Amino acid sequence: MPKSNSETVDFDEIIDRRAVGALKFDPALLQSVFGRQDLWPSWVADMDFKAASEIQNALRQRVEHGVYGYESDNTRLPEAVCSWLDERYDWSVQPGHILFSPRTLTSISVLISLFSNKGDGVIIQPPVFYDFKMLIHAQHRKLVKNPLKLEQGTYQMDFEQLESVAAQPENSLLILCNPHNPIGRVWSRETLSRLAKICAAHQVFVIADEIHGDITYQHRYTPFASLSDAAAQNCASCVSPVKSFNLAGVANSMIVIDNEDKRQQCKDWFNQFEINKNNVFTTSAMLAAYTRGGDWLQQVTHYLQQNIDTVRDYLQQQIPSLKMIEPEGSYLLWLDFRALNLDAKQLSSFLVEQAGIAGNPGHWFGREGAGFARINIACPKKVLLEALAKLKTAVDALA
Ligand SMILES: Cc1ncc(COP(=O)(O)O)c(C=O)c1O
Repeated sequence: MPKSNSETVDFDEIIDRRAVGALKFDPALLQSVFGRQDLWPSWVADMDFKAASEIQNALRQRVEHGVYGYESDNTRLPEAVCSWLDERYDWSVQPGHILFSPRTLTSISVLISLFSNKGDGVIIQPPVFYDFKMLIHAQHRKLVKNPLKLEQGTYQMDFEQLESVAAQPENSLLILCNPHNPIGRVWSRETLSRLAKICAAHQVFVIADEIHGDITYQHRYTPFASLSDAAAQNCASCVSPVKSFNLAGVANSMIVIDNEDKRQQCKDWFNQFEINKNNVFTTSAMLAAYTRGGDWLQQVTHYLQQNIDTVRDYLQQQIPSLKMIEPEGSYLLWLDFRALNLDAKQLSSFLVEQAGIAGNPGHWFGREGAGFARINIACPKKVLLEALAKLKTAVDALA
């Protein structure tokens, strides 16, 4: 266990999330999406762990205050976020360049609508988080693919193909996912710099979804906007404590945007719809996360790393036909089922009916993901081992 000033957190505790209506465990939803309820819910990207005690205490204190009226704009929170980003990632952000938004997907949707026109192309890099496609279509933009290439077990960006799609004048935006959901890559400074150059050369504005940036293993996350002034001027960065601190039900998301003109356009949009008031609990939770959550984050990352090691070892020893794509960040694992020779429909059915897993079949992330599946390992190790044992029985039965 790494050194820590705070208490040691018990991530092995099994907590009943059904009691509070957790989306991931919702019986009606499991039934409608997967056709069954008796599954290991591994499909929604949140953690089955309690939030840091520092965050719980901050919320408790705020509840106990008892008055929940309008709050003035909080300057402490943007300052805390700036210190966090600077100390951890050498990213110097001005507090005034941070805009608050209800969700990261809200931010991306607003950015698409403001900085491209109907019919324009938006470039994504599949296999990638499926909601990008949904937002692009909802905004009546064209989905343009720059698929990742899988080379010797590692995904790489295809810069030649990117150059050609970026050069088409109607393709005005690119959504970067770093760390990349579902494959878990933490893009290197070199890779990001190549992408930045191509996008700048062809006036393709970058929406950098960095929601998973705080959870990385041996690799350090490089914020796109920290590459250079030119990169910072040509991007809007979406950062959030939602994934790293498990606050999807309470926290806001943020857009960091250095370009003054574009920042003003975003501000005007949020003001137009009056999306500019704080939720008092959100502010308390986020402030606690960014000022006192570091120890907890270190501990949870360590626990997640152990779960990743567990899956890797288990597959190698018990289910050698399945392979794990080594994650560099996030708690999402991308598993390679191609050796089972199942088509997309068969793999989906195998996962549910034989293995009892409500995971995310790879084709949800684009046809480039076919033959793979994403699982979420942010759960107690005991739960993970039970799921792996069931998976082994299912794979053995295919032989
Ligand atoms: C890459 C990525 N972006 C955005 C989201 C959604 O974030 P939010 O709930 O804040 O919209 C997720 C959730 O899984 C994600 O993985």
